[in-house]
Amino acid sequence: MSQSHLLLYCRPGFEKECAQEVQEKAAAYDIFGYPQLEPNTGYVLFHCYEDEDADYFARKHPFSDLIFARQMIVATHELSELIVGDRVRLISQALREYPVCGNLWVETPDTEKGRELAKFCRKFTVPLRQGLRKAEILTQTEHKSKRTLHLFMLSGEHGWVGYSYSYNHSSHFMGIPRLKQPADAPSRSSLKLDEAFLEFIPAKERAARLSPGMFAVDLGAAPGGWTYQLVRRSMHVTAVDNGPMAQSLMDTGQVKHLMQDGFMYRPVKHNIYWLVCDMVEKPARVIELMAEWLCDDWCKEAIFNLKLPMKKRYPELMFNLQKLKDLLSEVSNDFVVEAKQLYHDREEVTVHVYNKRSVSRRVERHSD
Ligand SMILES: C[S@@+](CC[C@H](N)C(=O)[O-])C[C@H]1O[C@@H](n2cnc3c(N)ncnc32)[C@H](O)[C@@H]1O
Repeated sequence: MSQSHLLLYCRPGFEKECAQEVQEKAAAYDIFGYPQLEPNTGYVLFHCYEDEDADYFARKHPFSDLIFARQMIVATHELSELIVGDRVRLISQALREYPVCGNLWVETPDTEKGRELAKFCRKFTVPLRQGLRKAEILTQTEHKSKRTLHLFMLSGEHGWVGYSYSYNHSSHFMGIPRLKQPADAPSRSSLKLDEAFLEFIPAKERAARLSPGMFAVDLGAAPGGWTYQLVRRSMHVTAVDNGPMAQSLMDTGQVKHLMQDGFMYRPVKHNIYWLVCDMVEKPARVIELMAEWLCDDWCKEAIFNLKLPMKKRYPELMFNLQKLKDLLSEVSNDFVVEAKQLYHDREEVTVHVYNKRSVSRRVERHSD
């Protein structure tokens, strides 16, 4: 079984950045290869020169460290002649020597073409699962601790088969979290912060790190989509923006609206836990502001957006993230910086920064 391709799903339009990232991060393990991509297809194939390298990377490199990849799969078989009516047998036959997997996802790229195939994929999953269970390629019941088998369909006759490691992949089908837009949220971007909390805060720590009664600051808050997510979690929010906030949020009594410049605002009291920031500004300016808040300990955790430039998106982003890390490391080596292009992000990525020492103290205290 040749295992030397990594298949990465990404937001359509960001294939180049996804490819640059995997190539650079694989090289750090002495893994070399070349990416294959087409614009707006929503995926990248990275062909490694050495057998087993793709598997090694998929096991060793933390999936959470990949900014542009929504899913990371070791792609093993390209199936280009799947004959209608004989697909289950052909796939089972191709996978005769396969390691036993615990789950099956039949997926498509997140594109118009992919969406047209989605109905077929849903229907096809049932007979394929049965066939693979019979062939003992899939466990008889779902096993989340075993590898996940992916069939990535590019058309009805053509697709890739591969697997991901359950401890190092996106736990979401197609790498997309299904979040429901609350009917009363003041803006669609509300889901960005909801997704960011889901992505960056481990489930078992959410009660400690997203607690009722916490104080939060939202810079560039109007009309209030992000503030909504904080209020929903029973926090007290200072919303800074010259624009108007939704009346429904003001009516909760949990929001103080300051019509000020978010770059000039400084907290009066030392009681802020969360800083969130969605101001549309140059990344370099946002980075400096966030570093100041964190280094001066005005907040414990921060989530903010970095808008991507039109050109050189990947190198510019990496430059800005490094700048942030350098500024933070002047004060402490305990800061953790994570970045991800979330499903709800467009021409931007979301960054999360926290001080691991103070956060783990908080989590410990909470569990006492
Ligand atoms: C993308 S919108 C924020 C949307 C908001 N997060 C939501 O979910 O409803 C950006 C906001 O940043 C505000 N903004 C831009 N520059 C600002 C500044 N220097 N100070 C305060 N607000 C600013 C704008 O007025 C705008 O309301």
